[in-house]
Amino acid sequence: MAKALDGVRILDFTHVQSGPTCTQLLAWFGADVIKVERAGAGDITREQLRDIPDVDSLYFTMLNHNKRSVTIDTKNPEGKQVLEALIQKCDVLVENFAPGALDRMGFTWERIQELNPRMIVASVKGFGPGPYEDCKVYENVAQCAGGAASTTGFDDGPPVVTGAQIGDSGTGLHLALGIVTALYQRTHSGRGQRVLAAMQDGVLNLCRVKLRDQQRLDRTGVMKEYPQYPNGKFGEAVPRSGNASGGGQPGWILKCKGWETDPNAYIYFITQAPVWAKICNVIGKEEWATDPDYATASARLPRLKDIFAEIERWTMTKTKFEAMQILNKYDIPCGPILSMKEIAEEPSLRKTGTIVEVDHPMRGKYLTVGNPIKLSDSPTEVKRSPLLGEHTDEVMAELGYSPEQISALRTAGAI
Ligand SMILES: CC(C)(COP(=O)(O)OP(=O)(O)OC[C@H]1O[C@@H](n2cnc3c(N)ncnc32)[C@H](O)[C@@H]1OP(=O)(O)O)[C@@H](O)C(=O)NCCC(=O)NCCS
Repeated sequence: MAKALDGVRILDFTHVQSGPTCTQLLAWFGADVIKVERAGAGDITREQLRDIPDVDSLYFTMLNHNKRSVTIDTKNPEGKQVLEALIQKCDVLVENFAPGALDRMGFTWERIQELNPRMIVASVKGFGPGPYEDCKVYENVAQCAGGAASTTGFDDGPPVVTGAQIGDSGTGLHLALGIVTALYQRTHSGRGQRVLAAMQDGVLNLCRVKLRDQQRLDRTGVMKEYPQYPNGKFGEAVPRSGNASGGGQPGWILKCKGWETDPNAYIYFITQAPVWAKICNVIGKEEWATDPDYATASARLPRLKDIFAEIERWTMTKTKFEAMQILNKYDIPCGPILSMKEIAEEPSLRKTGTIVEVDHPMRGKYLTVGNPIKLSDSPTEVKRSPLLGEHTDEVMAELGYSPEQISALRTAGAI
């Protein structure tokens, strides 16, 4: 079956996580993604956190599916010429080098435009223009600078970073949207353009509701759905709100049967207002449904701590899956805290292709997260990541180089 991005060629100059996340998505949607790597070494993640000696790490294989790999020394004059040929042939150049690295290589926006005015140049950087624009940035730096860390964790503890890679993978997602949007605009403008996704901006976009809360706090000095109300003090900035859901529907993480030995025997429980009477019935507190201290959402706000303690007395008598089953019968919103082990073993995720088993010639079978975005007319087939330089000759031939020329470039160290 045809793929959504059939015919789109991506010159993939990305490494580590943020950029590769983006180009992997584009490859899953059908783009021909040609990953340019440094000969001999390649993307640094090939060798990071290895679980099998001398074999591409899971870090690399899980972020570079469906791509082709070519090795080019872009600082070698002849290597630069090969890169120029690629720029002329491709639609999009994606990079996430440190600020200025592409310019230092000699590939400024102006030069790229000379070579190919239709080229879209898409970059991940740590920061947009401003005081930090020259800084190198990794995931947790972005989480901190984008507002996530200051608003994550418990009020009596330090800022906390989250396991979700919102700085790297989150920004890669933002960049992918920018690229397909620029490709669409090019269909009528005929021109390429630059696309920038700064990691700080991407994280902040995902923390939008916290900037909402900052302004509510500035205006009123209090936010009633936060656990600080009415027990603690609010300061000048949005506080860390623990496991509060933060929306209009208070929620918390509660212990379930087995919590003493299983660190993930917990459930997220939401006391959604329309199902309050059902919650009261399930936990055996029928009188709360009509008691004026508990019957309305606003009456419950100052009592949330005690309410969740009472609900927890009930959840502790059930496993998280039993609780889930009972609560779902009554449309009470809740979610089990699933461990990575449970997710890896979940049959329904395998069925939908969200978790996929892939075979790799050097490491054998491994699990990966497949394409989380499902298109009905462009199904994703997850193919293993390329070995370093696996497709150099193939891509060089497509660029019009003869076997003799390829051999000479190899001798010169250009490829
Ligand atoms: C991630 C990051 C911190 C890594 O820094 P780093 O390991 O020092 O890598 P850099 O991007 O600085 O360097 C790449 C260097 O390799 C060179 N290089 C890359 N590919 C090359 C190739 N095929 N041939 C020759 N040289 C190559 C670059 O030209 C650059 O050299 P220069 O510093 O002399 O200009 C940095 O790239 C960065 O801040 N990127 C933007 C933000 C980002 O994406 N961060 C998240 C990562 S998940």
